[in-house]
Amino acid sequence: MMRIVIAAACVLVATTGCSQQPATPAPAVEAAATPNYDTSMSVDELMIHAMEPAAYEFWGGWGVVVDNDGPHDLRPTTEERWKQVENGAATVLQMTNVLQLPGYARSPQADWNRYAQGVAKLAAEGKAAAERKDYDGIGKVGEQLDAACDACHEKFPPLAPAAP
Ligand code: HEC
Repeated sequence: MMRIVIAAACVLVATTGCSQQPATPAPAVEAAATPNYDTSMSVDELMIHAMEPAAYEFWGGWGVVVDNDGPHDLRPTTEERWKQVENGAATVLQMTNVLQLPGYARSPQADWNRYAQGVAKLAAEGKAAAERKDYDGIGKVGEQLDAACDACHEKFPPLAPAAP
């Protein structure tokens, strides 16, 4: 469906270009092609709204939680649950790319990037483990991931106290 719409738009642009003006690329098109990273969201918000929920989606596939109804085994038993665990790892991995963007990376940048890449490596392993439905694998990676997140937090403490 989307492909048809795009094709139609191209025909329209081509027609307009032919009938009204020489084939000079419109400046608006060039501007849109330049990457424009929106880094206005703070690292704090990025962690709260993206990194942490994604990590919990991944961690949510391993272990046992106890509530008023008793213990619940978190081991995924359906395709959908395994996919959710994999989604979490995939998003954590992508968030490590975001963290290394100019505008987010903090100084000393070499350390910052190294911690982000440490998390990326584990997230990739976690994603692969979820893909092959390796319960022990996601458990092992999950533990290491927790330590990798904390390693960056120890080196780079919050700029301002967290909101209450
Ligand atoms: C490259 C460094 C880095 C990595 C890797 C990293 N974080 Fe963070 N995180 C930070 C920084 C810096 C802050 C403090 C935010 C600030 O300074 O405003 C933070 C803050 C947080 C907070 C606290 C937000 C609040 O205000 O309550 C949470 C939760 C969090 N990170 C989760 C995670 C998780 C989960 C991971 C791993 C999956 C992770 N982070 C990996 C740098 C990192």
